[in-house]
Amino acid sequence: MAPMTRSRNGEDGVPSDLAITYYIQRVSAGLIITECAYVSLMGRGYVRTPGIGTDAQVAAWKRVTDAVHASGGRIFMQLWHTGRISHPSLLPEGALPVAPSAIKPAGRGWTPNGLQDFVTPRALRVDEITQTVADFRIATRRALEAGFDGVELHAASGYLPEQFLSSGTNQRQDDYGSSVAKRARFILEVLQAMVAEAGGDRVGIKISPEMNFNDIVDATPQETFTYLVEQLRSLNLAYLHVALFGAKVDYHALLRPRFNGAYLIGGGLDQKSAEAAVAGGRADATVFGSAFLANPDLPERFRQGAPLNTPDTNTFYSPGARGYTDYPSLSETITA
Ligand SMILES: Cc1cc2nc3c(=O)[nH]c(=O)nc-3n(C[C@H](O)[C@H](O)[C@H](O)COP(=O)(O)O)c2cc1C
Repeated sequence: MAPMTRSRNGEDGVPSDLAITYYIQRVSAGLIITECAYVSLMGRGYVRTPGIGTDAQVAAWKRVTDAVHASGGRIFMQLWHTGRISHPSLLPEGALPVAPSAIKPAGRGWTPNGLQDFVTPRALRVDEITQTVADFRIATRRALEAGFDGVELHAASGYLPEQFLSSGTNQRQDDYGSSVAKRARFILEVLQAMVAEAGGDRVGIKISPEMNFNDIVDATPQETFTYLVEQLRSLNLAYLHVALFGAKVDYHALLRPRFNGAYLIGGGLDQKSAEAAVAGGRADATVFGSAFLANPDLPERFRQGAPLNTPDTNTFYSPGARGYTDYPSLSETITA
């Protein structure tokens, strides 16, 4: 099950009991990857997203992981820092969002006051980069305390890790910018910190080459992602999760041979394409997002060749149970 932000948490970043129901309903996934949790308050980019720092957040997540484990499931927590994809109204004391370089993203983001233009972020100082790496380490520790089986670094979709990696958002001239190796450094340091805390076999990473979401652009994406993935080898990670959204380059063919852990693919898959990918050796496992959101018993539906519920995009991020925990399972549909 793909990581999916659902925006049903309290403003204090504490998941509610509804989250327990939501994840338990989807426990037949081989591995649940949670919605993204921010590693620090400066990494918060959306309303009602969860954190993994305070005691209350850890305690609430523990109830989720205990319930998932009691039902025989496995669950990793996705960790993020949104970087420049935030807004002063979401940050402590109205602070400017931070980023590798002070480059404003095109577009608008959801704030407590509705859709607003993104702002020009402030470039991180090197000591702040060091602190941010430490924040990922502490968040990993807290996630393990909360009972997660592991953690996934969100290095996809144009958030802070990919902002460092990409030439369009990183114009630094210090050790964290200019060459591909220096732009990859932040992600590699964060992963090293996460591995130091959890061990490589409990750490995964998600990337989305050429997704170009959140105004992220890289001048040489094939070279950049090849370099990054080759550097991952020494970390002995549990998995590399690559989500593709219409890229013309076959990144799975490019990246899979360069990686030494489980290779997970996602983005627009259905049962047929997913089974073909695994049977054909293109992936070790496949990741489903919106289909899992709308079908809590997705594996069983695939097994039976049963029809799927359609995801309701209007309720992807809206508060409450509607569109969250009220998608029927097959047996509920048959009873109804
Ligand atoms: C409602 C929603 C929220 C999402 N939130 C996240 C997120 O927090 N982190 C992430 O890495 N991807 C997120 N994604 C992307 C999914 O993880 C996945 O890559 C994408 O939906 C493609 O898979 P699919 O075609 O099976 O839906 C989200 C997708 C959806 C539909």
